[in-house]
Amino acid sequence: MRSKIVAGNWKMNKNLSETETLLAELAAKLPDTNAEVMVAPTYINLIGATRCLENSTIEVIAQNMHFAESGAFTGEISADMLLSIGVNTAIIGHSERRAYFGETDAILAKKVVTALAKNIRVLFCFGEELEDRKSGNHFAVVESQLKNALFSLDASVWSKIVLAYEPVWAIGTGETASPEQAQEMHAFIRKTITEAYTTKIADQVSILYGGSVKPGNATEIFSKPDVDGGLIGGASLVADDFVAIIKAI
Ligand code: PGA
Repeated sequence: MRSKIVAGNWKMNKNLSETETLLAELAAKLPDTNAEVMVAPTYINLIGATRCLENSTIEVIAQNMHFAESGAFTGEISADMLLSIGVNTAIIGHSERRAYFGETDAILAKKVVTALAKNIRVLFCFGEELEDRKSGNHFAVVESQLKNALFSLDASVWSKIVLAYEPVWAIGTGETASPEQAQEMHAFIRKTITEAYTTKIADQVSILYGGSVKPGNATEIFSKPDVDGGLIGGASLVADDFVAIIKAI
């Protein structure tokens, strides 16, 4: 059985005291759930967050990491640095990293290899732009993103990969893919993985949907058979909204 996951991507929001406040509220209100719950605060608050959540099942994850082990990469964070503070999962390939920080498929492929070599779980994001969908290219774009960054990996590492399909046109826009559009793409992703690897791997990988998931639409999106949870941006910054989304799963 694949895991259900609800992950909050806080992006560049919340200073230290705001982080502590939100985490305390989340820890107090966390409902009973079989889903894995994760939060990704900004780097400088990761240690603080792990301390706040010492007695909670909520996992603290990173929003990014560098592909190099160490060295002259000013401003960057390595896998070992994350592991040394107890952070064992990293988001890689978020569309904002791709769009604003020039992260290409080739760079992301290197990050994924490094993360997995260090035994860091990868929450890999990908998804098409609006023009791709309008021109009917969305399946081809998603397939090439997966192929370029992931399909050279050995089958044995797939248990450490979580996928997050995030159509760029739905991120932070208030616009959501319909549950049917999400299901259609998630089924396509599973089929693509089956072709590249095996049905078993495709069936076991959790595929999250991301893009304007809110308390009001989460239940319907999560009800789709190939949607295993969500990567939540804006709504993860408000404890009651994030808790409602966790309840929806
Ligand atoms: P959003 O962000 O929920 O604010 O659309 C999702 C994401 O970027 O992961």
